[in-house]
Amino acid sequence: MALRKLEGLKAWHQYFSKNRLNVGDIPWGLKETLTQDERRCIGKSIAAFQLGEYSEGRSLFKFAQEYAARYDDEHLVEITQLFIREEQNHALLLKRFMGTHGMSLSTRNWTDTVFRRLRKNVGYELSVTVLITAEIIALVYYAALKECTASVVLGKICDKILADETAHVEYESEVLNCIRNAKPKLLRRAANLQHRILFFGTVLVVYREHRSVLKRGGYGLREFRSACWSEYRKAFGQKGCARITAQA
Ligand SMILES: [Fe+2]
Ligand SMILES: [Fe+2]
Repeated sequence: MALRKLEGLKAWHQYFSKNRLNVGDIPWGLKETLTQDERRCIGKSIAAFQLGEYSEGRSLFKFAQEYAARYDDEHLVEITQLFIREEQNHALLLKRFMGTHGMSLSTRNWTDTVFRRLRKNVGYELSVTVLITAEIIALVYYAALKECTASVVLGKICDKILADETAHVEYESEVLNCIRNAKPKLLRRAANLQHRILFFGTVLVVYREHRSVLKRGGYGLREFRSACWSEYRKAFGQKGCARITAQA
């Protein structure tokens, strides 16, 4: 695999270190009641996303450690730790909201299982590829979830997660763009094609599983696919390595 030392991670390390202190502007003290209709619309879907947000990140951390050791990188391991903590915080925010409203948590979900398996034993590049696929789609999902209820708290949780995920997608796309740009043309094309196949397959699965939220949020299948694709293009379109550069 054509992996290279990544330069320019210092700025991302500073970002993640600073963002650790940003708890979001969430008015937890507000007394709110969800209607039956709102609960029915978001219940199963939010439980699946809550489950998906929580991960110990062991595989990703191991891959990052291997990568960092191989290329003597001083920031990647700590960035990955901070990143995993942010994801766990997303799970905690959703869990707290669900607990406030007596909503059941999910302990098992087939899409979550598939995504966890896909990220295992594949190395750093593919692990990040699978991760960013879910995160790009999550950008559209959380925008839709925000529209599904009148809850101010849920709206603010979505805002916080969306702000974090926007940065995650930017960071990971820079990493992937650099790794891919360092490959020979044919391998780069193959990596891009493989990613697009995974991406569109995932878009269809997420739509099927979460259409109650997506429809209420204003996304039919066509709109959802097009919004997800637009986020994908933002991440991988014309942009090269904005801050991070790869060295042989
Ligand atoms: Fe997240
Ligand atoms: Fe994320």
